[in-house]
Amino acid sequence: MTFKRHTVTAALPYANGPVHIGHLAGCYLPADIYVRYLRSKGEDVKFICGSDEHGVPITIKAKKEGVTPQQVVDKYHKIMGDAFEGFGISFDIFSRTSSKTHHETASDFFKTLYDKGVFKEEVTEQYFDEKANQFLADRYIVGTCPKCGNDNAYGDQCEKCGSTLNATDLINPKSTLSGEKPIMKSTKNWFLPLDTMQPQIEAYIDSHKEWKSNVFGQCKSWLNAGLQPRAMTRDLDWGVKVPIEGADGKVLYVWFDAPIGYISATKDLTPDWELYWKDKETKLVHFIGKDNIVFHCIIFPAMLMAEGSYILPENVPANEFLNLEGDKISTSRNWAVWLHEYLLEFKDKQDVLRYTLCANAPETKDNDFTWKDFQAKNNNELVAILGNFVNRTLVLTHKYYEGKVPVASEYTKNDILLLEEISKFPAKISASIEQYRFREALSELMNLARLGNKYLADNEPWILIKTDAKRVQTIMNLSLQIAANLTVLMEPFLPFTAAKLGSMLNLNTDLRWKDATRTDLLLAGHQINTSSLLFDKVEDETIVAQVQKLADSKKMNELEKQSEIEPAKAETSFEDFSKMDIRVGTILEAERVPKTDKLLKLLIDTGIDKRTVVSGIAGSYKPEDIIGQQVSILVNLAPRKIKGIESQGMILMAENNKGELSFVEPSKPNMNNGAVIK
Ligand code: MF3
Ligand code: ZN
Repeated sequence: MTFKRHTVTAALPYANGPVHIGHLAGCYLPADIYVRYLRSKGEDVKFICGSDEHGVPITIKAKKEGVTPQQVVDKYHKIMGDAFEGFGISFDIFSRTSSKTHHETASDFFKTLYDKGVFKEEVTEQYFDEKANQFLADRYIVGTCPKCGNDNAYGDQCEKCGSTLNATDLINPKSTLSGEKPIMKSTKNWFLPLDTMQPQIEAYIDSHKEWKSNVFGQCKSWLNAGLQPRAMTRDLDWGVKVPIEGADGKVLYVWFDAPIGYISATKDLTPDWELYWKDKETKLVHFIGKDNIVFHCIIFPAMLMAEGSYILPENVPANEFLNLEGDKISTSRNWAVWLHEYLLEFKDKQDVLRYTLCANAPETKDNDFTWKDFQAKNNNELVAILGNFVNRTLVLTHKYYEGKVPVASEYTKNDILLLEEISKFPAKISASIEQYRFREALSELMNLARLGNKYLADNEPWILIKTDAKRVQTIMNLSLQIAANLTVLMEPFLPFTAAKLGSMLNLNTDLRWKDATRTDLLLAGHQINTSSLLFDKVEDETIVAQVQKLADSKKMNELEKQSEIEPAKAETSFEDFSKMDIRVGTILEAERVPKTDKLLKLLIDTGIDKRTVVSGIAGSYKPEDIIGQQVSILVNLAPRKIKGIESQGMILMAENNKGELSFVEPSKPNMNNGAVIK
């Protein structure tokens, strides 16, 4: 099927932090390459993006920083937009979901489905914080992970062991708003009945066996597990208000409103927006990262089907993840290369990062970005292959012909083969791009530069110039044609370099993709401009500095973790507190408990009696050092057997973030054993 026009979207990034190389590699760069290619082919295309400004992480960030959610999204919308622009990501619009158009569009969309009776209304029990008077989204609940025992697991996920959780799985759930134990409270929400829609959705997915296998596979596994109804509304106050009666204090689920953001952005872009969303001859393609697959392949299409007047995504090329120096990229751990920082530190080297990220794109599996590889890609590929070919060609043209394109006279057999080869490149690169194989496409592009280098090396014009000046004219003419074709073909991948080379060659700026099949883009006598190097070497110091920067951020992060203070416990009553009988005591004897690392067996004079206590302090104190030490001891704790020894009470200890322990002792010497602590 051929299409008349294209709607290409790149996932709307959450406006709760700046963007990093993982974002660029995962979706914005491939989308940009694809769109630039389509434009070069003369296709009608709209490239849509914007920031995703709703959702719980944004409200959490705002709370943490003591600002409003609106202030958070204003700040990051700008930072992200600037970073994308800095890298030449050529959106036709970078909109935002807090806009009026979006609120209206999302609200109307919901209303349409509601009026059609699509939603199932259901009352469910959700965690509710009585003190904050608020239902708790998963991210607002922490507790102990039932799988690994991590005390700081979230209601939807344990970041320590990676398990996906339900809020109700957590042991000892606590609200992060108040620290209180939440209660269960019933609430009404509106569900998209994915279960009853499954046959339709399945037929849609099955009609797209051409999708990337990671994408198709993930969809199939969701379908095989059986789709479940999913709530499209949430009890929250930040988001698009649910536009029906009896829904006060509720907003649309962020994954309901966000993809509609693509539609509202298109509305803001053009009055013809419906052509780009409702005409069967429009090809809709969503570029995303793998964590977004189910939302774009199942839930959003289900919403579009239920609405009825929209086209469905034709393809959803999702990338896997990019790691950094062997470790998962993490915003909270500051383990990232931030795009806005790169732009400041590597001025005019946007294409080097574009190149590295495309050459290393996590298209079929997770991939790793390392600074060493960045340097190697720059020095051994961009400088040594592409830059070197172009530089030799332009320098010789200036040297021999004062920058005028020489006449090609007689072609040798090899020249004719070369001409044939050259003209095949656009089709080869097209085929790869159209299958979303950008790494392959880029490596084909580099093969054209390699071909040019080989042609120069085989023909050695710099030697031949002394004996056969006429032949050299042909060689240089052909080399210049390759440089011109490279300019056209590199544009989607390396737009800054293409612009620079185009102006050095004084090339007609209207050239399109198909022109690169020709081998006469530069006519004899055409004057080229002065030339300079397309790429410079990246030195070792630069790389060392970046690796150091990452190491520093890791260290900072560890220090920060150590200074983190344990959250406050829930309030307790004086009555409860006064039930504890805590006394000053003195250690009379101390010995290690055999076959344990941590435990000491202590004999304590409590003033009341002399008793045995087993205490986990061997990591911090040696037995011989603590005889005669005053301590605080809880004397009315029920006795417990520890390693076969009955422990009659508990020594109070202070513990810092490193797990180091200290006795809590009276600060005056006149406190006798048995003195009451209260
Ligand atoms: N904000 C989401 C993320 O960063 C992506 C939203 S894509 C959209 O993972 F379709 F919902 F817009
Ligand atoms: Zn866990």
